[in-house]
Amino acid sequence: MVYLTRRETFNAAHRVYNNAWSEEKNKEMFGKCANKNWHGHNYQLFVTIKGKPDPDTGFIMDAKKLSDVIKREIVERFDHMNLNMDTPYFTDQQPSTENFCVVIWALIEPFITGGVLHCIRLQETENIYAEYYGEQ
Ligand code: NI
Repeated sequence: MVYLTRRETFNAAHRVYNNAWSEEKNKEMFGKCANKNWHGHNYQLFVTIKGKPDPDTGFIMDAKKLSDVIKREIVERFDHMNLNMDTPYFTDQQPSTENFCVVIWALIEPFITGGVLHCIRLQETENIYAEYYGEQ
């Protein structure tokens, strides 16, 4: 089994805030991510597929085609967007890196034409990333 990873980047704004909590509790739990007037992140998305390389091409899936899928399904959908206000994915859940990984998996998975989707890794900052392997 071979693993192939393609990286793409985009940026988006969000606010992680629980309406059921007080201002103080939100600040304590989410820190600057609870800031009232939003803030942005430069996200790095790593999409990893796994499979056996095709004997003719040596590819699991053409990395350019994988890039096209990520750009079409994720970058065009989320780049320069406000995750809370401009997208329908975070009305019932926090726009956290963890939840975002699960959203990205569901959007990308149907378009993987070689091998199978193995991991969505979403890097929110230099020091924080989440990974999702498709299990619940
Ligand atoms: Ni944040």
